[in-house]
Amino acid sequence: MQNLQISVENIPDSELKPKYKSEDNIGFGQIKTDRMFTASYKEGSWQDLTISKYAPIILDPTAVCFHYGQTIFEGQKAFRTQDGHINLFRPEENAARFNLSAKRMMMPEIDPEIYLSGLKKLLILEKDWAPKSEGSTIYIRPAMIGTEPSIGLRASNEYLFFIILFPSKSYFPEILKIYVSEQYIRAAPGGMGSAKTGGNYGGSLFVGQKAKDKGYDAVLWLDAIHRRYVEEVGAMNIFFVFNEEIYTTPLESDTIVHGITRDSAIKIFRDFGYTVREEALPIDKIIRGLKEGTLTESFGTGTAASIVPVGSLYYQEADHIINNFQIGTLTKKLTERLLDIQYGNIEDPYGWIVRVV
Ligand SMILES: Cc1ncc(COP(=O)(O)O)c(C=O)c1O
Repeated sequence: MQNLQISVENIPDSELKPKYKSEDNIGFGQIKTDRMFTASYKEGSWQDLTISKYAPIILDPTAVCFHYGQTIFEGQKAFRTQDGHINLFRPEENAARFNLSAKRMMMPEIDPEIYLSGLKKLLILEKDWAPKSEGSTIYIRPAMIGTEPSIGLRASNEYLFFIILFPSKSYFPEILKIYVSEQYIRAAPGGMGSAKTGGNYGGSLFVGQKAKDKGYDAVLWLDAIHRRYVEEVGAMNIFFVFNEEIYTTPLESDTIVHGITRDSAIKIFRDFGYTVREEALPIDKIIRGLKEGTLTESFGTGTAASIVPVGSLYYQEADHIINNFQIGTLTKKLTERLLDIQYGNIEDPYGWIVRVV
């Protein structure tokens, strides 16, 4: 059993940062809170669990993370309820997925108890940073990097785990213009697409920029083999609604991130009585559905963005408009239910909410 003693550095009030003045301009991930949680992995165990002042990390230039990509991360949110409590949403799922990423990247798993108690203690200390307006949250970034100096290609024997917090608004605009990538791919079967590891995101930046330059908000990736089946969008899973039947990419392949918002959306829709099909969906069927009027809505799901309607798809040199570039009825219904659960406006029927304080 690990020693769960977390030491907390005392930071004098005079060294705490001034809080943001208005919640309107906090942006996403731009404001850091005062403290961070860290733990080190050395000689086969996690140790030195500490909450200290947010500060740069100093590493040897040969640290494995710089050269061989041993980096993983998670994305979570903490929600301030109307009555001032702080809620986490399915945090055990993030800890479990973090460990799946760790395994794939030859990194040590972290005891979920360290992950979750470190996170909760940090949030308690930083709770005054939590924005009050609905739609704003504390965005949480847990991460792990291989820190051992070693220029030889091998897994690091030493790691740093850290959690940092950012009071934030939503990540995306209200309705997305999406660019379907035909030439470049994100992940291939047998690769590491389902791991939240830096390389997957680094590899996507080039296409993301191409899409931005053309005026699009995000990239929709197709499968690597046929360049036909939809996979996911940037940092979101993707859903399409055909005549009130909801489709999303299945999880059998190891090429997409197994989204916690995706799973929650499926459960909520099924409880509303809708049919949700986890089926490979060809892009040509989507375009046909738009032309014939059978495809009525599309939306992305992810922690950073929550639920975001997709207003258009750029594919084969044309923009295909979805639902007149408006949010659809099912998308709206899902968004409202999910946010109501997350912000504690209604009772959580699923046991997804963990109250921190
Ligand atoms: C590539 C990718 N797909 C999908 C998701 C959505 O996952 P979640 O809903 O758990 O945030 C994320 C975000 O973590 C992601 O990075």
